[in-house]
Amino acid sequence: MTATIHGFPEALPAAHRLAHELSVDCRPIELRHFPDGESLVRVGPSSATAIVYRSLDDPNAKLIELLLAASALRDGGARTVILVAPYLGYMRQDIAFQPGEAISQKVIGRLIAGHFDGLITVDPHLHRIHDLSDVMPGISVTTVSAAATLSAMLGPDITPDTVLVGPDSESRPWVESIAAPLGVDVLIGEKRRLGDREVALAIPGIDSIRGRPVILIDDVISSGATLLRCAALLQAAGAVRIEAAATHCLARAQDLAILARGGICRIRSTDTVHATIASAAIAPALAEAYLSARIGDRIG
Ligand code: R5P
Repeated sequence: MTATIHGFPEALPAAHRLAHELSVDCRPIELRHFPDGESLVRVGPSSATAIVYRSLDDPNAKLIELLLAASALRDGGARTVILVAPYLGYMRQDIAFQPGEAISQKVIGRLIAGHFDGLITVDPHLHRIHDLSDVMPGISVTTVSAAATLSAMLGPDITPDTVLVGPDSESRPWVESIAAPLGVDVLIGEKRRLGDREVALAIPGIDSIRGRPVILIDDVISSGATLLRCAALLQAAGAVRIEAAATHCLARAQDLAILARGGICRIRSTDTVHATIASAAIAPALAEAYLSARIGDRIG
């Protein structure tokens, strides 16, 4: 296979895991920041297909550096440049909620589509737009589900009386697909967001969790407000042990500490973002998606 993976410094261990799965070389992207804040990006030699690996949490500076890397790889001879962004930021603002607001999803989608030939991402947070291709015009877009990875992660120590709890109706298909191979029950909440760090939540059927262990399941842990509210309701309803699992954990150390104090005794995620709590590598699922999408062959 004529592909090389190019990993930004913070993503290099995960990029190496994908390279291992695909049996291709992984090369570090060097980054330097000038005193005025500009970034210098230096890439290694590329094969015909270059795969750039970087998650877009904390996305502002990262996006510019991605574009610089894509340009340098093309200058170096890459014919096809693919972005593997396991976590894709800026996907939540898909309409102008107030007059004058930018529709970030559309802007960032077009920006990525203008510089890359393909995108592979994991469980993108989409609301009104269900197909990511609609915001990345003209490029190959592959979305990977982390459900099987999370089922496999939870499987070894789950007990049959465990209940998986999703916080809102959007999470239902996803939570059910994690629960099905484990053969455990599911409860789904009803959530209303009141602010960046405030949610109102109810969990119909919560009485059934008395005396049972619970695992909260979400696609993203950001401020942690959603999990915290769920945990408070579940504790009051008599859950015996509360854990959480998510595809992407963006929460910072202080938010994780608040979640622990709020009664969540264990938080696990894939390694799309948070290396410190990551418990499951997403590389095998990414490799499978890359091989079935055959992006380089189709476009390159
Ligand atoms: C919302 O629809 C998502 O599925 C997550 O529940 C949300 O992004 C989590 O954010 P936070 O941790 O800030 O409550």
